Amino acid sequence: MKAVSNAVDSERLWDDLMALAGFGAREDGGVCRHALSSEDIAARSWLIGKARERDYSIAADDAANLFITRAGRDNALPPVLAGSHMDSQPAGGKFDGAYGVLAAFEALRALDDAGIETARPVTCVAWTNEEGGRFHVPCTGSRAFVSGAVSDPAQTDDAGISLESALRSTLDAAPDIERIAPGFPVHAYVEPHIEQGPVLEREELPIGVVTGIQGVRWFTVRVEGEPGHAGTVPQASRKDAFQAAMRAIAALNTLMADTDDIVRFTVGHLSIEPNSPNTIPAAVRFSIDFRHPDAAVLDERGGKVADIIAEAVQPCTADTQLTTSLEPVAFPDPVTSAISQAADGAGLAHKPLASGAFHDAAHIASACPSGMIFIPCRGGLSHHPDEWAEPEACTAGARVLAGALAQLAETN
Ligand code: GLV
Ligand code: MN
Ligand code: MN
Repeated sequence: MKAVSNAVDSERLWDDLMALAGFGAREDGGVCRHALSSEDIAARSWLIGKARERDYSIAADDAANLFITRAGRDNALPPVLAGSHMDSQPAGGKFDGAYGVLAAFEALRALDDAGIETARPVTCVAWTNEEGGRFHVPCTGSRAFVSGAVSDPAQTDDAGISLESALRSTLDAAPDIERIAPGFPVHAYVEPHIEQGPVLEREELPIGVVTGIQGVRWFTVRVEGEPGHAGTVPQASRKDAFQAAMRAIAALNTLMADTDDIVRFTVGHLSIEPNSPNTIPAAVRFSIDFRHPDAAVLDERGGKVADIIAEAVQPCTADTQLTTSLEPVAFPDPVTSAISQAADGAGLAHKPLASGAFHDAAHIASACPSGMIFIPCRGGLSHHPDEWAEPEACTAGARVLAGALAQLAETN
């Protein structure tokens, strides 16, 4: 375990992180690499090129999840899987997702360089559309891996391009890698990620052993009003979809009030039709992101969302759809203890930590024992162009990952 941890090459990992950040680089230092966009396709092709420099097998499934596998002694055994996602938020950073994929890829090379043979194959994975920034149902890839099919392939992005056609373009851009069906038996899954919160930095700890992920409900709401001339239609007879949406959001804020400050409630996407200064808004679409660690709270408050909106938007009407429902997940001992032991083996202090963000691991946890490694990020900042993790922090997480994978790939 120590040998493979020590074989992690800090400079190689950092160079990869900076190279990947070049695909979709924004002028403000952040990254915009929407899932299945030309930037994402270029990033995938770059990673495939790097995988070809080694003796790894490369495959993609119908959800365009990318798998890079280092053979084991017995390749009939289910592999140990590690990775994350390469898509970013529209104004995202260099590390969210990218770090997990590249730390996993570095772990494969560290196993090579340490001359370690594992019983099981070890696979680095890049899941498709974790963020949900372009296609608003997140975790397309990990969800498809678990269910066996891409859900809602007809959903469209803001430009009207369907998920199905974006997947096709992405897969067509890499015609010479193996195509597989979504889902195969996996022994264990480990996802390294920046913490996206302040705890590790504040406590000067290099490693968080993630205990679980809080639950999530996402809704999309479409409010229908009546367009008209902004200068002539009397206020009293208007059906202004934007005013109605604001009343609905205010009512939702009351529903989500929480003196303990555990509920997380966000309206982050909103579009107005026809979006003209002097036309009364005809329709508004907005998103709801609601999270809590307790499934009962999610069910209770989530169950009231549609009725509260319908009431508040009158005389307009609303269609509220639940698009994502993720139950709270607790990561099991075989994986959390492999991570803790790897951290101990690498001489890195650690503490257990719950995740407020969701991750592909929340889905994969239903297919195999799963876990996550957190590393500190500056100011706890994420989903932000200034997102930053120090090179030493990135190396520490990859060392722990490599040790944990070496151990998990030997176990029954
Ligand atoms: C993941 O990106 C999340 O929103 O938690
Ligand atoms: Mn992420
Ligand atoms: Mn994210």
